Amino acid sequence: MAARVLDGAAVANAIRAEVGPAVAAFTARAGRPPGLGIVLVGDDPASEIYVRSKLKSAADAGLRADLMRLPAGAPLDDLLAVVEQLNHSEPHDGILVQSPLPAAMGPDAERRVFDIIRPDKDVDGFHPANVGLLVQNRATLAACTPSGVIELLERSHVTIAGSRAVVIGRSDIVGKPMALLLLHRHATVTICHSRTKDLAAVAAEADILVAAIGRPGFVTPAFVKAGAVVVDVGTTQVSDRAVVERLFAPDSKRREVFERRGSIVVGDVHPAVAEVAGALSPVPGGVGPLTIAMLLKNTLRAAQQRAGWAG
Ligand code: GUN
Repeated sequence: MAARVLDGAAVANAIRAEVGPAVAAFTARAGRPPGLGIVLVGDDPASEIYVRSKLKSAADAGLRADLMRLPAGAPLDDLLAVVEQLNHSEPHDGILVQSPLPAAMGPDAERRVFDIIRPDKDVDGFHPANVGLLVQNRATLAACTPSGVIELLERSHVTIAGSRAVVIGRSDIVGKPMALLLLHRHATVTICHSRTKDLAAVAAEADILVAAIGRPGFVTPAFVKAGAVVVDVGTTQVSDRAVVERLFAPDSKRREVFERRGSIVVGDVHPAVAEVAGALSPVPGGVGPLTIAMLLKNTLRAAQQRAGWAG
């Protein structure tokens, strides 16, 4: 039997419908909208698409959203200066520096940038002070993608408390905060990664399985307990025909899109998992829109907190 689809777009719309009036109320009271400064370095095509989408969604929600661009070859100091400017900018309540940064900026560039963003403007929840608050279940600004997954599960009436949750992937952006957010909702949580022994068997114990490793089709039915809830957070742009042919049947819609465009976005979860899982958040059509909805919510929250209007 095919899994129930967890509809990320519908949940994102519901969140946006809540954020809109709250943004209007803030704007009326403050005499200005909540403001978001987005910094994009270089011209990575995927980042361009994400940032465009963030700017449009922010504008649609009534937020002020400004884009600051730096060329791919910009020195790290230039980026740090832009962030410092935003740190001191009155109309900007939130700051987002799009990841990944160009490799030429150096291996510790992201850490250095996230470290100097003012914690109360850190709408990504990446600053170590906010990560520490998250560890202690006191965070108000938590990473957008894992927060979006929690919203998706809760609004789809998936019971988290008492469940066994397995997160595949230990990144600072998704895996670690995801595990903490599940833990704080009383799941029993295991994090799996590249050195995990017998990963499929560990994953197959999960009632809730979240995959965030960026390996197309890695999670096969052997990783999934019958009836489990599976959330795919992986997004890999695939142009290798062999990979696409391995994952998708010749007459499938995904193959048709691949033939038309020459590449497609593929998640970490193999399509055959839909026959085993009880519920599935697929790629595309899953958590993508939720990341942006949570960014809007975090920006509103940051604005309210700076104004002293939120706990
Ligand atoms: N790149 C991919 N996802 C994200 C995110 O949530 N925040 C930032 N800043 N960059 C990203």
